[in-house]
Amino acid sequence: MAIEEEMVAGEGTAVTAHQTQNDTEAFENKLRPKDFSGYIGQGEVKQNLQVFLTAAQNRGEVLDHTIFYGPPGLGKTTLAMILADSMGTQLRVTSGPALEKPGDLASILSNLQEGDFLFIDEIHRLRMPVEEILYTAMEDFAIDLVIGKGPSARTMRLNVPRFTLVGATTQFSKLSNPLRDRFGHIEKLRFYEDDEIGQIIKRSADILEIEIEAAATQQLAKCCRRTPRIANRLLRRMRDFAEVVHQGSITQAVVEESLKNLSVDAKGLDFADQEYLRTLCDKFKGGPAGLSTLAAAIGEDEATIEEVIEPFLIREGLLQKTPRGRMATEAAFSHLGIIGGGGML
Ligand code: ADE
Repeated sequence: MAIEEEMVAGEGTAVTAHQTQNDTEAFENKLRPKDFSGYIGQGEVKQNLQVFLTAAQNRGEVLDHTIFYGPPGLGKTTLAMILADSMGTQLRVTSGPALEKPGDLASILSNLQEGDFLFIDEIHRLRMPVEEILYTAMEDFAIDLVIGKGPSARTMRLNVPRFTLVGATTQFSKLSNPLRDRFGHIEKLRFYEDDEIGQIIKRSADILEIEIEAAATQQLAKCCRRTPRIANRLLRRMRDFAEVVHQGSITQAVVEESLKNLSVDAKGLDFADQEYLRTLCDKFKGGPAGLSTLAAAIGEDEATIEEVIEPFLIREGLLQKTPRGRMATEAAFSHLGIIGGGGML
């Protein structure tokens, strides 16, 4: 993706319309809280950020560079937007894989306004020549451009406006040391508690003007893998079923039937999670099994397994990563209603 495809947010807006923005993104943006008061959960992170923001504002400085890490869908982008809004500045949004050449990043940096926030999603996927531009930009608010080629090449230092880099990653360990060391704030986002997910569902339902029973909210909250993005996605599907099949509000019966139709089970495991776990328990007798073997067995790519499927299964106590490979726990067998499991005994 080149620079013209960036999104800009700021001054009270979430994200300005983006030509390629699809329905899901538009829906997510509509539901994003615009300030800390609307942001549910992640209490410690929120508290820290509010202190750092106030300190920076009082000193008339830009906020120190900040990295958010944790599984997808927990609210990293939303927090970056809230930071920029709180400082009354703009947020420029791009991602690691989108920045193909150093020039892509140099152009974004030199077009920033003083105090802007630059959000780089999937920052662990930055190419090294691009990443190297960030080092001086983060430290000295300057970039070194190479002009010309061969023996006549020379470097020219160009100042860029003072800015705050907000990086987001699902794989913190993949960040190089020089990049990691340049962040002043490192914040880990955690999975949400069921009651927090319930509050998010209620908040989103109010914004979307959908009626949802309290018991239905609670039941739905248990099936969202402790992840706001999944909660909002499931809420949207519940609304479809409620409107089209049941002509009304979201009741417990609607939630039950819809979850069944969507192949989401009582713990919130979706089809891909269930397939992964069932394969490990059935085909590999609970393991140990290697990542590449499992990926081939279910036809899923390794990164999706590591970044999306496994963190939740581990968190739920259904899976263990061991030096010999992945192993299903007893809880996994009982959740799937399978007796025994060679790997476990
Ligand atoms: N939507 C997505 N994440 C949210 C959060 N943490 N609080 C409120 N609404 C959200």
